Amino acid sequence: MDFTGKVAVVTGGGAGIGQATAREFAARHAAVAVVDRDAKTGQGTAAEIRGKGGTAEFFPLDISKPDQVARTIPQIVARLGGIDILVNNAGIQRYGTVTSTSEEVWDEVMNVNLKGAFLMSKHAIPEMLKRGGGAIVMTGSVQSRGALANSVAYVTSKHALLGLIRAMALDHARENIRVNCVCPGAIDTPMLRWSASLQPHPDEVLAACDRLHPVGRMGQAEEVAHVIVFLASDLASFITGESVAVDGGLLIAIGGTSFQESGTGSSKR
Ligand SMILES: NC(=O)c1ccc[n+]([C@@H]2O[C@H](COP(=O)([O-])OP(=O)(O)OC[C@H]3O[C@@H](n4cnc5c(N)ncnc54)[C@H](O)[C@@H]3O)[C@@H](O)[C@H]2O)c1
Repeated sequence: MDFTGKVAVVTGGGAGIGQATAREFAARHAAVAVVDRDAKTGQGTAAEIRGKGGTAEFFPLDISKPDQVARTIPQIVARLGGIDILVNNAGIQRYGTVTSTSEEVWDEVMNVNLKGAFLMSKHAIPEMLKRGGGAIVMTGSVQSRGALANSVAYVTSKHALLGLIRAMALDHARENIRVNCVCPGAIDTPMLRWSASLQPHPDEVLAACDRLHPVGRMGQAEEVAHVIVFLASDLASFITGESVAVDGGLLIAIGGTSFQESGTGSSKR
């Protein structure tokens, strides 16, 4: 996969999956717009890429703010020449049930995880059309397909992303714009470590995350980035409106793997 001459915009590029994705595109010769609301980490990713001989610029942006998005997309085009690829990756996690979640938290999650992807796509697609098409990849979650407890806003926002990619994929298929989604399991990023830190015994939470996956470990950000980059590439030219689980088998295991661990031989009753 070679992205020479292509411009890739990655939201949440300052940390975790977005940072790994920005690095991966740059290593494959794309010019990368690193978008993040955290200036320190966003600048850090862009500087690191430039330090390795790649092309990257940092754009400070809160994707949930319509005026900021409308202002920033033209800046990306002016500085990098256009937009071919958009990775709507930035997201936040908040915990609560439908009764314990405040309206403010509900809106915060929806505005970042869902509306942010809508706004970025809305402003980036006209720029893609000027270049004959493009590719959009969203970061959903295994919680796009199933639910974890006490995460009502997050689960709902991630399910809605599947609707968004399908609707967008259909509307823009004839314009040579493909829209897909990755659905990661637990990935070792600052977000996951923050979630674990909310519990009395974070190490036990991380160990449980490892056990949760049939492969016996949580994922690394690079393992998600590889799939994002593939979906954005010409190798995925006939894939659109699709979601790909990157979850070490998590979604195929009914009730987890503990009932009978694989590889222990046949059981007799
Ligand atoms: N880590 C996991 O286990 C996991 C699993 C499934 C899905 N995901 C999803 O993957 C995506 C990335 O997660 P991560 O674990 O790398 O998170 P992270 O918190 O480690 O990094 C997210 C980055 O996005 C930025 N960001 C957050 N809100 C923003 C906003 N409004 N505008 C611009 N930038 C913003 C943050 O500053 C940060 O740099 C998220 O959409 C998340 O829901 C993560």
